[in-house]
Amino acid sequence: MATMESLIDLVNRIQRACTALGDYGGGGADLPTLWEALPSVAVVGGQSSGKSSVLESIVGKDFLPRGSGIVTRRPLVLQLHRIPGRGTEYAEFLHLPKRRFTDFSAVRKEIQDETDRITGKSRMISPIPIQLSIYSSNVVNLTLIDLPGLTKVAVEGQPESVVTDIEDMVRAYVEKPNSIILAISPANQDIATSDAIKLAREVDPSGERTFGVLTKLDLMDRGTNALDVIEGRSYRLQHPWVGIVNRSQADINKNTDMISARRKEREYFTSSPDYGHLSSKMGSEYLAKLLSGHLEKVIKAQIPNITSLINKTVDELESEMIQIGRPISIDAGAQLYTILGLCRAFDRIFKEHLDGGRAGGDK
Ligand code: GDP
Ligand code: NA
Ligand code: MG
Repeated sequence: MATMESLIDLVNRIQRACTALGDYGGGGADLPTLWEALPSVAVVGGQSSGKSSVLESIVGKDFLPRGSGIVTRRPLVLQLHRIPGRGTEYAEFLHLPKRRFTDFSAVRKEIQDETDRITGKSRMISPIPIQLSIYSSNVVNLTLIDLPGLTKVAVEGQPESVVTDIEDMVRAYVEKPNSIILAISPANQDIATSDAIKLAREVDPSGERTFGVLTKLDLMDRGTNALDVIEGRSYRLQHPWVGIVNRSQADINKNTDMISARRKEREYFTSSPDYGHLSSKMGSEYLAKLLSGHLEKVIKAQIPNITSLINKTVDELESEMIQIGRPISIDAGAQLYTILGLCRAFDRIFKEHLDGGRAGGDK
C-alpha cells in the first residue's frame, strides 16, 4: 500500500508539473483547479519578521537571500523531498532542469539572479514564482512558499502601489482554502500589530489552517516573556503557537552554521525559566514535524475531492490531445503527458489508500 510519504511526493510532482505549464494559481489557467486543490504551506509576515530564517531552519540549510529591506521579490515555491542516503543532498530549479546544485550558496545566487531576470534588478516585485526543489535525507516532505514581506510604505525605487501589490499577491496564496498559513510574528513587537495575524485573521477567521510562529524570543526586553501569545491567551488559534529562536544578524555575520544554530535554539528552550515546560513543543525542528504531520492530515481529508478533480482533468486533457491530434510543441506535449501520468498515478494511489483504509479500518 502507498505510504503517506509517497502521496506527498506525488503532490509535489503534480505541483511542479502545473507550474511548468504556466499555472501558478494566478493565471495561465491550464490546470487552475488542480493546483488549488493541492495543499502547501505559505510563509507570511512583515518585512524582517524572520520568514527566510524560519524557512532555512525548517530546511536545515543556508540557501536564501537575506538582508534588510525587501529581499524576497518573487514567490519562491520550495519543495522538500526526503530521500534515503546520508550525504546526498542537492537542489534543482525548474527553470534550470539540467543543473544539479550541491553548493547551496550557488542556490542563493541563482535565486537572486532569477529574481532580477524578471524584475530587472529594481526593487520591483513579480507574482511569477521561482520553483526550487531540495532533495535531502534531512528534510521532511513539504512544500513551502516564501513570499515577499508585507510592508506599510513604499521605498525608494518602488511605486506607491507596492504595498497593496504585495498584500494582494500574498492574499492570493493564503486565501485558497487548501493553503496552510505559516504566520510569522516577531516577539519583540506587539502581537496586536502583526501583519501576519491581521491577514491570517482576514482569510482564516476560525484559525483552522493558520500556524502562529513567534520569532525573536531572544530579543524580548528583559523581564518580559511571550507566554500570553504562546499559550494562546492573546490570540487564539486552533493549532498551538510555536516559539522560535533563529540566528541573529551577528550569528549570520559570524557564519554560525545551521547545526550549531539548532543546538543553540534547543538549549535556549530547555534552559529557559519561561519556556522550559514547553520546550518539547518549541523550535524549528518541532515546527517542521508539526507541519508535515498536518499536511498529511489535510491530504487525507482531501482525497475524495482531489480524486474527482483529477478524473475530470484527465478526461479534459485526453479530449484535448485527441482534438489537437498532436501537441503544438514537443515540450508542451511532453509536459501534458507528464501531467497525465502523474494524475493517473495520483488517482491510483488515492484509490489504494481508500481501499486500504476500508480494509484495515480507518483511524
Ligand atoms: P524576513 O525579512 O522576514 O525574511 O526576515 P529574515 O529572516 O531575513 O530576518 C531578518 C533579520 O532578523 C536578520 O538579521 C535575522 O538574523 C534576524 N532574526 C530573525 N529571526 C531572529 C531571531 O529569532 N532572533 C534574533 N536574534 N534575530 C533574528
Ligand atoms: Na528581509
Ligand atoms: Mg525574506
